[in-house]
Amino acid sequence: MKIELASRIRALPPYLFADIDRQKREKAIELKKSGSDLIDLGIGDPDLPTPAHIVAAMQKAAAEPRYHRYPSYEGMQGFRDAAVGWYKSRFGVSLDANKECCALIGSKEGIAHFPVAFCDPGDLVLVPDPGYPVYATWTRFVGGEVYPMPLRRENGFLPDLDAIPADVAKRAKMMWINYPNNPTAALASPDFYQRVVAFAQKNNIIVASDVAYSEIYFGKEAPRSFLEVPGAREVGIEFQSLSKTYNMTGWRIGWVCGNAEMIKGLATIKDSVDSGAFQAIQEAGIAALQDAASGKFVKDMRVLYKRRRDLFVNAMTKAGWTMAKPSATFYVWARTPKGFTSSETSGKLLEDVGVVCTPGVGFGPSGEGYVRFALSVEEKRMMEAVERIRKVKWTT
Ligand SMILES: Cc1ncc(COP(=O)(O)O)c(C=O)c1O
Repeated sequence: MKIELASRIRALPPYLFADIDRQKREKAIELKKSGSDLIDLGIGDPDLPTPAHIVAAMQKAAAEPRYHRYPSYEGMQGFRDAAVGWYKSRFGVSLDANKECCALIGSKEGIAHFPVAFCDPGDLVLVPDPGYPVYATWTRFVGGEVYPMPLRRENGFLPDLDAIPADVAKRAKMMWINYPNNPTAALASPDFYQRVVAFAQKNNIIVASDVAYSEIYFGKEAPRSFLEVPGAREVGIEFQSLSKTYNMTGWRIGWVCGNAEMIKGLATIKDSVDSGAFQAIQEAGIAALQDAASGKFVKDMRVLYKRRRDLFVNAMTKAGWTMAKPSATFYVWARTPKGFTSSETSGKLLEDVGVVCTPGVGFGPSGEGYVRFALSVEEKRMMEAVERIRKVKWTT
């Protein structure tokens, strides 16, 4: 039998990360033989465990027979109330838990399904470049057209809305924004969000904001929500995740909130795709969002990432690398050594010293000239990685 992939998969650009995974596997085997190992600064997956009070909430709930049945696809009332309550106390945004919030099986699930609800073949979607790859992939899966918005250092890694041609803006159906940003670690100001709302209103564009990293920041001012800006709820929604804030990447739980019609559209797709998140996990989510112990945990987590950031950036800068100290996220967006592309740089670090980082082009063409280091390994290993990197000879 001839098995043929659907054209939507065949049309995808070559998946750079699959190639890196293969190289990583080969290198790991080689290093093991010589008694060494890989240090992986490639994946944005926290190395520390989920806080005990959240795990305990899940353990208790998992024993409840009523939670063993199908959940509702929009999420438990208690979870939606907790999510909406968290938005009120964190951002001062009041939302209706019944119409303006929906639980997700991790924010990635909602981010993927959102274009299915709102984009027809040929629709144009404005996507940050570099950006989290799921925005562009699912635009393409539904037959949409990606219009990259370059994020440049000189603009603080914000898209230049004035540079988007008028005909493109008029044609665009949807726009993705993501601050604190993966991979550049940039922050957005309320002023930027105001400009996005005005741009969306003028051009009738749906705005999808992704704030998965909103709680990982190091300055005095906490990152803002797009939904805080007057008019935002008329044009958009926001995706939030428990993954990075509470070290819960494996649990698969997040939510989306904002415009009721957009939530309804996404929920209609979900209704035909999944049957919601396991309710014991939602109970864990409620504990994460409501228990007093979470506040201290998140504060301590920021101290930990800040310490890693300072140690890493100071040591790498001393070793001759160019990188800014990020104000948020656990990523460092570093310039590649002179004469080396992002793929050459990540390839050489892997090959020469067994250190994994992510080439900037993996996030889009404007990521060229950069690599991303994820500081999601413990301090000793992270500094060992720097020590190894220091020894690499960069001659072309
Ligand atoms: C920018 C961004 N958004 C969303 C996600 C998805 O997170 P999750 O599906 O675990 O909620 C990630 C994961 O790395 C991310 O980097």
